[in-house]
Amino acid sequence: MKKSSRKSYYNISADVYDFFKDGLIYFPIKTDLKTITQKLNTLAFHEKYYGSMDADLEFDAYKFLWNHFPLEEVIQKAQHLSGRSDLYIGDIALRKVLPKSKPYLNWHRDTWVYTKNTNGRIPPLIKVIFYFSNSQDLTEKSIVFSKGSNRRFITKNRIVDLGLNSLLSRVTIGGKNYCDCVIFSSEICHKVIPPLKNEAFRLIMNLCSKEQLEGFERDSNLDIFIDKHNSEVIQEKEII
Ligand SMILES: [Fe+2]
Repeated sequence: MKKSSRKSYYNISADVYDFFKDGLIYFPIKTDLKTITQKLNTLAFHEKYYGSMDADLEFDAYKFLWNHFPLEEVIQKAQHLSGRSDLYIGDIALRKVLPKSKPYLNWHRDTWVYTKNTNGRIPPLIKVIFYFSNSQDLTEKSIVFSKGSNRRFITKNRIVDLGLNSLLSRVTIGGKNYCDCVIFSSEICHKVIPPLKNEAFRLIMNLCSKEQLEGFERDSNLDIFIDKHNSEVIQEKEII
């Protein structure tokens, strides 16, 4: 029998392997939550889902978020993990979630492909979420994932899909740190958990390919901020 000349494995970094296999990675963030929550509580919010509100972000708010969260580093990390160097910011939302509100999103995938219907963006977005409490307390349980369900998202229908997912191991984010960051492939099966004790914040960033940018109802303040920020960064580099 002729032997295959294909290598049985390739060297990749452990985090790339984990992201491929599990569909997510998460890590704690050290940041000044007192300054952050004080500033965020001055913003205006409008209801998004029942029990949650999104902030109206102006140019200065984007600048504040940029300066207090490692957004650029996380985008680079997402590019490294996914092998997609063409990832751009589709949108950014700052969400406030009230304690004991009904879960606004039960088990779901942001993108699914079933025999008779398909939903969500293709290629699926890479999503980044920072979780922290408005009370500067430890995060509470915030989101649960079916590990590896990103690797099997084509099936007959939702019932079969969710049934199969119940066999996979799960990981819950929250409960140990003051601020958690999660990067995940948005076709993974996940469920949002509302806080029980404290009002909570979620800073959500959707990353997409360049061709997908026009599919977002982008906030013009975000475009203004990104344009100005990029030109300033370029200027700084030119001076150096
Ligand atoms: Fe989702």
